[in-house]
Amino acid sequence: MNKKQAETEQRVIHKPVLLKKILEYLEIKPDGVYVDCTLGDGGYSIEILRKLSPDGTLVSIDLDQDSIDFVTSRYKVKLKSGNWHLVKGNFRDIKEIINDLKLKKVDGIVYDLGMSSRQIDNGLRGFSYLRNEVLDMRMDKSLGVRATDLLKVAGAKQLEKIIQEYGEERFAKRIARGVKHWLNENDYKDMTSGELVEIIRKNVPAGYRKGSKHPARRTFQALRIAVNDELLSLSQGLNSALSLAKRGCTVVVVSYHSLEDRIVKNVFSEWETKGEVEVITRKPEVPEKTEIESNPRARSAKLRAVRKN
Ligand SMILES: C[S@@+](CC[C@H](N)C(=O)[O-])C[C@H]1O[C@@H](n2cnc3c(N)ncnc32)[C@H](O)[C@@H]1O
Repeated sequence: MNKKQAETEQRVIHKPVLLKKILEYLEIKPDGVYVDCTLGDGGYSIEILRKLSPDGTLVSIDLDQDSIDFVTSRYKVKLKSGNWHLVKGNFRDIKEIINDLKLKKVDGIVYDLGMSSRQIDNGLRGFSYLRNEVLDMRMDKSLGVRATDLLKVAGAKQLEKIIQEYGEERFAKRIARGVKHWLNENDYKDMTSGELVEIIRKNVPAGYRKGSKHPARRTFQALRIAVNDELLSLSQGLNSALSLAKRGCTVVVVSYHSLEDRIVKNVFSEWETKGEVEVITRKPEVPEKTEIESNPRARSAKLRAVRKN
């Protein structure tokens, strides 16, 4: 890698969000077993590892092979210690992942949902409405359906439902129709993120187009959620995680939009009603102004945590 490439790589490394709070809530025991369900660039994992003794264990999961490869090359030496396991997988399969490693119960589990800055800025996968790349949006490149494929196979009604439900987009109907019209006009060729942004701009009212939030933000969120089946993975993953939790284990989740946060809040409150856990964040923790200033992607973060009874 030349100097310029190294600088670019450095710029897009993900800045961990609410890291100090994460470590406080995890209350790491040096010989405990911890699971980082969303490895990303390893921002949480490396700090958890620093607090573990050689008898402690950390399992870090990510469904993106690029994330596993990036962390493997960045932290070669740390990985030699043998108590840090990187697993390419979906956190909805946390139970099988932990069983395969011959581990039983765990002392702490953390989730930092969504995408890493590297995936957005450097992934060439069409996650960003500020770039022009083929609309892929798969976090796991082994999945069969890219966002551009989904736009082609879904009917206008189905597309409207996806954009409405997963993006809470009030102009879903117009956008879905605009997409279908564009595909008909363009022989159903693959669509890029830039082309989708243009379709959205053309099909929403001028006030919305010029508003403070980007008009494509909600549609992009919706497609990403649909392609990666994010909401189902989250609810299934949380429920499997509970069965692995030792007494006193904390489960900590950072979410970035209201659909994710609602699931976390509801699952935690169901567990509390059943007497399984105590919710230890009555109100979600949010980043301080200074963190948001230095890392704008932290602005929508909400942290919720429970402790197993
Ligand atoms: C916000 S980033 C995590 C950043 C990390 N905390 C850090 O500080 O570097 C989220 C990561 O979770 C991964 N991810 C999203 N959904 C997942 C799932 N269901 N199972 C496993 N990994 C997932 C994404 O591929 C991405 O790398």
